[in-house]
Amino acid sequence: MAETNILFERRGFGQTSRKDLWWVQPVSVFLGLSAFIVYATWAAFQGEYYAFGNYLSPFYSPEIFGSSPHSIFGPKPDWWPMIVPFSPALLILWAPGGMRFTCYYYRGAYYKAFWADPPACSVSEPRKKYWGENRLPLIMQNLHRYFMYLAVIFVFILIYDAWKGLWFVNAATGEEQFGLAVGSIVLAMNATLLGGYTFGCHSFRHLVGGFKNQLSKAPVQRTLYNCSSCLNRRHKNWAWASLFWVAFSDLYVRLCAMGIITDLRFF
Ligand code: FES
Repeated sequence: MAETNILFERRGFGQTSRKDLWWVQPVSVFLGLSAFIVYATWAAFQGEYYAFGNYLSPFYSPEIFGSSPHSIFGPKPDWWPMIVPFSPALLILWAPGGMRFTCYYYRGAYYKAFWADPPACSVSEPRKKYWGENRLPLIMQNLHRYFMYLAVIFVFILIYDAWKGLWFVNAATGEEQFGLAVGSIVLAMNATLLGGYTFGCHSFRHLVGGFKNQLSKAPVQRTLYNCSSCLNRRHKNWAWASLFWVAFSDLYVRLCAMGIITDLRFF
C-alpha cells in the first residue's frame, strides 16, 4: 500500500492558505454580539420605560418586582440593599443570557470572534495549546442543559405576554377588549423567534427523543425529535433572528412608553 507523508507546519497567528474572505464572519459576529451586549446592558440598567399599557419588554419579563402593573409581587421590596442597583431586568436576564452564552452555536461563533480560538477554520490561532472546556470558567458551559430548562419556561411566559399584547383597555368603559396593534405583532414575533431558537436547541432535541436508542419505537418522541431537528437545522438563523428581535422588542416598547413613537392600532 502506498504511504502518504503529511507535513504539519506551525504557522503564525492568522496565517492560512484560504483564499476566501474568512475574516468576514468572525468580524460580523464580533460586531453583532458586541452591539447586542452594549444595548442589552444599557436597557437592563434603565429600570424604567419597559412597559406600555398591555406591553411588557421581554428584557423585563417576568417582572418579579417592579413599578409597572405587570409586576408579580409589587414594587421593589424594602429589604433590597441600598448599594445594589435595582432593575427588574437584572433579576431575570441571567437565565436567557446563560442560555445564549452556553449555546453550542454561539460558543463556536464567539470563540472565533472574541478570542480567535481559532479565528476561522484552517486559520492559525495565537496559542500553541488547546485549552478545552475542562476547567473554570469554560467548564461552566456544561450547564447549558439547565439553562435550556429555564429558557423553555421563559418561552411560555413570552407567549403569555404576546397574548396580553392583544388585549387593550377600552378608555371609555375601562374594560379589556381584543385588538391588534403593531406592538402586538412585535411581541408575537418575539415569542415565535425565541420559541424557534429554544425548541431547536441541541439539548432540547436530546431531551425530547435524542436520548433513545430506538426512536422508531416511540412515535410521540420521534415526532417531537423530528420537529426539533427541523428547527435545529437552522439554529444559527433562529439564534440571530431572535437576538435581534428581542432587542428590537425592548426598543419598541421603550419608545412607545417614552412617547417618542405612537403604537399604530389596527382594530
Ligand atoms: S444549542 Fe443553542 S440554545 Fe442550545
